[in-house]
Parts: sequence; C-alpha cells; structure tokens
Amino acid sequence: MASARGARLDRLLRPLHRWVWGDYDRRVRKLLAFAEVETDGGRDILRAAEVTPDPLLRRLYLEHAIDELRHGDLFRERGATLLHARPAHRTGLFNGTPLPGGHGLDDLRIEGEPDHRLLAFLHVAEKAAAGRFAIYRDIVDDDPSTRAVFEEILRDEVFHMNYTYTQLARISPATCRRQVWQARASRVWKRYVRVAAAVAGVLGSAMLVLQYFILLPPFAWMAKRAARREAAGWVPIAPHANESPTSQY
Ligand SMILES: [Fe+2]
Ligand SMILES: [Fe+2]
Repeated sequence: MASARGARLDRLLRPLHRWVWGDYDRRVRKLLAFAEVETDGGRDILRAAEVTPDPLLRRLYLEHAIDELRHGDLFRERGATLLHARPAHRTGLFNGTPLPGGHGLDDLRIEGEPDHRLLAFLHVAEKAAAGRFAIYRDIVDDDPSTRAVFEEILRDEVFHMNYTYTQLARISPATCRRQVWQARASRVWKRYVRVAAAVAGVLGSAMLVLQYFILLPPFAWMAKRAARREAAGWVPIAPHANESPTSQY
C-alpha cells in the first residue's frame, strides 16, 4: 500500500525528475552523488558481513557489498565521462536538485543493528532504489550510455530487494511484515526531519534578511541623526565629570 503510494508519487513527480535529469550539469552532479552513496552503502554492507553471526547472510552481504561498490564505480565513471565531455562555455556545476537520491543507503547504520532490522531497512531502501532507477532509466533516453548504467544497476537492485525480504522471512518469519513497516516508517521520519531541517534553514535565512532590511534601517537612521547633533571637534568636559570612576584618588 505504502509502496503503491510511493510509486504513484514518483509518477506524479516524473516531470520534475525529467527537469532534473534534462540539465547536463545536474545530470553529472546526480551521477557523482549516486556514486558516493553507493560506495558508502557498499562499505557499510561490508561491515555488516563482518559482524553478522549468520553464515548465509555473511555470504549474501558480501555479494551485496561488491555489487554496491561496483555501482559506485559505474556511476563515477559515467559521471566523469560526462564531466570531461562537458561543453566548455558552462561555468560551475549547479548543485540544486530538489529530489533526494535514489537509494537511501546513506541512512544505513550497522553497529548494534540486529540482522532482522538491517534486512528490513535494506529491503525498503532497495525497493525505493529500484523504483527510482527504473524512472531514471526511462528519462535518460537521450543518453544510451547512462541508460545502460541504470539498466545494469536496476537488475542488481531488484535482486537486493528480493533477497533481503526472503532472508528477513527466514530469520524472522513471525514479525517480518512488521519489521518492514517499521523500517518504512523510520525512513519516512528521517526524510521528514531532513526536509524540515532544510525548510528551517531557508526560513532562518529569510528571517535574517527581513531583520536586516526592516529592523536595521531605523537604528541606522537614529545613529546618523545623533551623529549630526554632535558638535564637531573637541568638546570640553564638565568639571565634575573629570574624575575616573575607577580611580582611588
Ligand atoms: Fe546499488
Ligand atoms: Fe542495492
């Protein structure tokens, strides 16, 4: 139900995705950002392979980590190729992408996480990634090489999505659905906090600008008026005011 809603939302956001990927600089920036997220995710899953007590999960985590590290390389190589082919007249990579990345592995925590929670989190993240990458693959139809990268990565993400759920059902059959719901709720909450922090940052900046233009001018005007009233040059001090307030003599 929630994933169907997410897919509907992604379909509604399709024009926005198209706008983001339609710009050359943003495309490069997104690919390089994905490379970072995939590589970081791969390292975290490698750590999960080290700490899990389950031999089958260790093997699967290891394969998963290798896939994510390879995804990072694929995105990085494609981003670098586009960057080198970038038209010379462009200046500075525009950093504004209003949409989050495709994977969500950047929220991954390994230390102290039991396997069932980790698998539930990975399942939700991989499902979101598979949905997003399918959209991106369709959108970059003007760029066959980038499309091929998404096509290849998408196949792995679907495998990751499926194996994580199968393993969750194996190690935690009674609570597997609840675990997935909890992971989904936690992901929504983290996204909300991230968006709220970004909105708070924008509002804070707007308030500072308003204060600068509304509160500061009256004080500046009063200071100028007071300065005009001051007599020019030296001013004699009244005799009784000629003593230091801190002096003992
Ligand atoms: Fe991946
Ligand atoms: Fe993945």
